[in-house]
Amino acid sequence: MTLTELPEWQALLAHRDALGERHLRELFDVDPGRFERFSAGFEDLLLDYSKNRITGETVDLLLALARRVELERWIERMFTGEAINVTEGRAVLHTALRNRGPDPVLVDGADVMPGVRAVLARMGGFVESVHGGQWRGHTGQPIRHVVNIGIGGSDLGPQMVCAALRPCRHAGLDVHFVSNVDGAHLAETVAGLDPARTLFVVASKTFTTQETMANARAARAWLVHALGSEDAVARHFVAVSTNHQAVSAFGIDTDNMFEFWDWVGGRYSLWSAIGLPIALSLGMANFEALLDGAHAMDRHFRETPFERNLPVLLALLGIWNANFLGAHTHAIIAYAQNLQRLAAYLQQADMESNGKSATRAGTRADWQTGPVIWGEPGTNGQHAFFQLLHQGTRLVPADFLVAARSDYARHATATGATALGECLAEQHRLLLANCFAQTAALAFGKNAEAARAELAAQGLASERVEALAQHKVYAGNQPSNTLLLRQWDPRTLGSLIALYEHKIFCQGIVWQVCSFDQWGVELGKQLANRLAPRVAAADAEVTVDVSSAGLLARYHAWRD
Ligand code: F6P
Repeated sequence: MTLTELPEWQALLAHRDALGERHLRELFDVDPGRFERFSAGFEDLLLDYSKNRITGETVDLLLALARRVELERWIERMFTGEAINVTEGRAVLHTALRNRGPDPVLVDGADVMPGVRAVLARMGGFVESVHGGQWRGHTGQPIRHVVNIGIGGSDLGPQMVCAALRPCRHAGLDVHFVSNVDGAHLAETVAGLDPARTLFVVASKTFTTQETMANARAARAWLVHALGSEDAVARHFVAVSTNHQAVSAFGIDTDNMFEFWDWVGGRYSLWSAIGLPIALSLGMANFEALLDGAHAMDRHFRETPFERNLPVLLALLGIWNANFLGAHTHAIIAYAQNLQRLAAYLQQADMESNGKSATRAGTRADWQTGPVIWGEPGTNGQHAFFQLLHQGTRLVPADFLVAARSDYARHATATGATALGECLAEQHRLLLANCFAQTAALAFGKNAEAARAELAAQGLASERVEALAQHKVYAGNQPSNTLLLRQWDPRTLGSLIALYEHKIFCQGIVWQVCSFDQWGVELGKQLANRLAPRVAAADAEVTVDVSSAGLLARYHAWRD
């Protein structure tokens, strides 16, 4: 029986039809206890999912589906190191990286925890020596700038966390990120840096990724040119990888390499040594607080009944919106300027995990799998794309994230800048007001009757009222979740990221895809490598399609 033939799936379809177009306005009107019923907490996180088009029956039916696909058993299989990455034959154990308890975690009968703890200890020692000025560059200067060179999972997570927790950053160190193979990224990043005080972290699980290797070579050329010696590389380059051989072949001493393991997926690797720039930027204590928060969420996920289990609930709501209500996208709107990379980070986490059409059994999925994830911080998004959310024709579910407290207002006040502190506190209240207002406007909208009454109250003639009324209607009924946090601190952010990771895991289980491989990105890489000689030389013998041939011909005509 396929997924869509399961009685639990069929029951959800029938329920969807019975629910029809029931509006969130009505669902709230008939149930004053809706917030209590459809909200759940975890430490300093509150999830309000009442603004989804659901009833108690919807949740019961979704939970029945989760049980039918044996979600509980899959969760145990992941935590206990079974090779659930079926296409690559690997365990999926990013949870071991943040296992802060005494328990062993076994892969093929061997406990991975001593290795995990040893790398953490080395990272701690390294961070201390950089912060303390004992780690010196080739000319004897302490390090002032760190440049992480990596892409995808070796870039997005650390970059997002460093930006999100900027108020915690170590004052004496700037951390930069270079990912794009476009040389502009590296060139612009190093332009203002002092080579004698710059440390490069080359981060790549495989240490074969084209973009990262190209940027690392360019960085080395920049450094050697500036400092006048190949010997400088040893004090200015460290590596984070699973591939000792390739690190050494690049010319980085493996004593300066921080390792991780093939049971850590790239997009789940910020908890490993890939998090080194986080530890350098925020300090080891904050990195460990991030791990603690994620571990706490892991325990919640593993131990809490599904009815109150945040990742399970978020996953099932996403499935309801995508598979039963027909949503194709899911927006991430963090009301926090420092969270500007959250949507990009979750794009990879979610779309590379669940953007699949083959099932684990090797058949083709005839149901929708992962949605398009996108977003921008609020309030900026309100002045850009929210128009479509409010009055467009598409269903666009969204997660709204906001923190109750502002670090900036507190810091200004604490340092005696009272007037600035008051302004920033007021701005934070405006941020929250906007966040809450948008979810309400999206859910409840404004009907034609109310639109007409408003226009009439402005004294407009009745023909004008009629002409404008439809333009002033907000259909509402757009589903959203709100995640309210006490504050953006390392522990809470760790929990939040783990929450999304587990949400993605649960959805992958229901959709029956392998969430831990990424074969889809291979074809483009292969074609780029095949085309490269023809880009280098017009007469290279590489057969291409007519469109590519036309583009290549014009490129060769235009290039220097
Ligand atoms: O191309 C996709 C991908 O393999 C991602 O899954 C990964 O995060 C990224 O490339 C970078 O890979 P690596 O860390 O091996 O350089």
